[in-house]
Amino acid sequence: MPEPTTLPSQTRDSVLVCLTHQEPREYRIVVQAGLLQRVGEECVQILEPNSKILILTDSNLEAKYLPLVQKSLESAGFLVSSCVVPAGEESKSLAVAQKVFEAALKANLSRKDTILGLGGGVIGDLAGFCASTWHRGMNLIHVPTTLVAQVDSAIGGKTAVNFGQVKNMVGTFYQPRAVLADPETLQTLPPRELSAGLAEVVKYGLIETSCTGESGFFNWLFEHSGNLKAVFSQMIHRCACIKASVVMQDETETRGLRHFLNLGHTFGHAYESLSEYGILHGEAVAIGLEQATRLSVHLGVFPQSAYEQLAPLLSRLGLAESLKRQTSYPPDALLVAMRQDKKNLGNHIRLILPEQAPGRVVVRTDVPDSLILQVLGGQ
Ligand SMILES: NC(=O)c1ccc[n+]([C@@H]2O[C@H](COP(=O)([O-])OP(=O)(O)OC[C@H]3O[C@@H](n4cnc5c(N)ncnc54)[C@H](O)[C@@H]3O)[C@@H](O)[C@H]2O)c1
Ligand SMILES: [Zn+2]
Repeated sequence: MPEPTTLPSQTRDSVLVCLTHQEPREYRIVVQAGLLQRVGEECVQILEPNSKILILTDSNLEAKYLPLVQKSLESAGFLVSSCVVPAGEESKSLAVAQKVFEAALKANLSRKDTILGLGGGVIGDLAGFCASTWHRGMNLIHVPTTLVAQVDSAIGGKTAVNFGQVKNMVGTFYQPRAVLADPETLQTLPPRELSAGLAEVVKYGLIETSCTGESGFFNWLFEHSGNLKAVFSQMIHRCACIKASVVMQDETETRGLRHFLNLGHTFGHAYESLSEYGILHGEAVAIGLEQATRLSVHLGVFPQSAYEQLAPLLSRLGLAESLKRQTSYPPDALLVAMRQDKKNLGNHIRLILPEQAPGRVVVRTDVPDSLILQVLGGQ
């Protein structure tokens, strides 16, 4: 496993991601309250003047944010069209991608034009997939509007649609020209979606040091957890730095560092799958974080005192009910589901586990089933 070496350069509002394998070689992630109204000004700095932009968004956001973004882009001189798809995971499909391609054809988009994804992870993954394949690749801008998208899915270049019941089966690695995140959009996000995103934020607190060599984010979250909304911009900026740092070191998931991002996810996927996706991804990740950390305490590699901070933190972030659902399923059925995780190594369950202190993690494939079952059973 490589040691973290490369930190993205950053200002108070933006993070510069530098890559080696793909064009663009670098792009900015801007996190700024009110940015949605200034999307046009940002785009003028990176896109060809007067070029075409197709805004891809979903049915929940069409009335809320599309007019604002469209106006800002038009005022900046772009020729704007839009494509609105139904909200929800079902839109990550080849059938809906075809609708986007039809809109691209109607707007006569060339390689020099742009698809701008305005929405959550579903829209981001779909916009990325379509932009990476239309004319073998055109410009892509992400304007993420969920917390999951702002701290995770818009950064890193993974695009996908689902196929044959398998999530993310067909996709590409394709980097955007910019990520423009406006924390004010989170004011309209349903509380349940917000809490699900906060589970991923806590995950960054638990992996930070292994990813960037820096520390303190977990404690910062703990200190601010009573009123996180007041510090959303700083929080999202810090998560973006951690994700960008991982991406810069392991752009195409070949060096192992991206595995750290899966802390809590092997446990979590089992809950998502047994609940038939009734439990949201982030809610399942919250369960997974608690279980992975408790497992580390049982293994004697993580301090009990730090573990005891985690459940109260997750509860304050609206995840108490999610944590209670961890004993709703039989441990042996959960273990079977964990074995099916595609990130496993042969027959061994691959677990990312906290080690030593919040911020540090280690990859383990040698944890006995008996101990995993004990943790799944709530002990
Ligand atoms: N590419 C990656 O690296 C990556 C990483 C993590 C997740 N993902 C993908 O992301 C998807 C999940 O993303 P998500 O959690 O953002 O879900 P989502 O895109 O489905 O958004 C959740 C819901 O919130 C609504 N919404 C979005 N922004 C809103 C706002 N500001 N106000 C009110 N409502 C709003 C949406 O319409 C939707 O109903 C999954 O498909 C997952 O596979 C991809
Ligand atoms: Zn996740």
